[in-house]
Amino acid sequence: MSAPTVFHKHAFATRLLHAGLALAVILQLLSSLPMEPPEPDHAGNWYFQLHQYSGLLAFAFVFAFWMVLAMRSQGTAPAALFPWFSGARLRALRTDTRTHFAALLSRRLPAYDPHAALPSAVHGLGVLLISAMAVSGLIYYFINSGDPDAGGPVGAVMFVHRTLAKLVWAYLLGHAGLALVHHYAHDVCLGAMWSLDRDAAGQGNASSAPKPQSIPTATARSR
Ligand code: HEM
Ligand code: HEM
Repeated sequence: MSAPTVFHKHAFATRLLHAGLALAVILQLLSSLPMEPPEPDHAGNWYFQLHQYSGLLAFAFVFAFWMVLAMRSQGTAPAALFPWFSGARLRALRTDTRTHFAALLSRRLPAYDPHAALPSAVHGLGVLLISAMAVSGLIYYFINSGDPDAGGPVGAVMFVHRTLAKLVWAYLLGHAGLALVHHYAHDVCLGAMWSLDRDAAGQGNASSAPKPQSIPTATARSR
């Protein structure tokens, strides 16, 4: 008897890279707390080495994520992740943002809609944010002279890296926190995004791709 076929919203490559990227970013944030970068009068500590090398791994994951995003036919449409260049997408985003605010103002959890415009746009901003962190870290890796407080280009790159670092904490806590809330509200199964099951035959191509991102629904569920 064959095993039941499970259809995933996100393709195997997306789930695999999401898991790798999320774990690498969590490692980056945690290693940044105790790390001491090298300074002119002392060498950096072990945590800094970990931060450097897992940061380079995060760069590889985010680069691969962009490649999959450009090539995949299953999952969230790139234009839904980056709606900033389409009038229709921007209108959908405005409507969905109002819907979310209205639900929150009336103390209700906004209903989970897998095609909603706001969450997809925020996920896209998350990809851009992590890309900026990984690229600024990578540039630092190649141009540094052993002191992150040096001025010039090193100072500029570190200014970007340190400023955006706070947003990465906010993104991780907000995104993972909301995923947990929706999981316990039974809207989303966390295990689905974190599953490393291979796609079923025929899945992963446009034939089985979810419908294109639609104008969001204006529903909100009472909590
Ligand atoms: C900073 C690390 C993370 C980044 C950069 C990140 C990024 C993303 C992105 C870009 C998507 C959308 C993927 C797509 O539609 O193609 C996504 C979806 C998702 N993420 Fe994360 N993620 C991170 C950490 C986490 C963590 C720690 C959790 C779980 C606690 C999580 C749970 C989910 C879930 C459940 C979805 C699917 C949402 C849906 O399909 O509606 N993520 N994430
Ligand atoms: C996605 C990848 C990365 C993330 C999320 C990340 C995250 C962080 C965070 C949260 C901080 C602490 C900022 C602060 O408190 O001021 C930090 C600092 C730093 N990171 Fe990264 N990082 C990444 C990649 C890299 C890479 C590849 C390097 C290359 C060497 C690097 C080098 C540094 C340095 C030199 C500092 C400053 C340390 C200090 O002055 O205390 N990072 N990073």
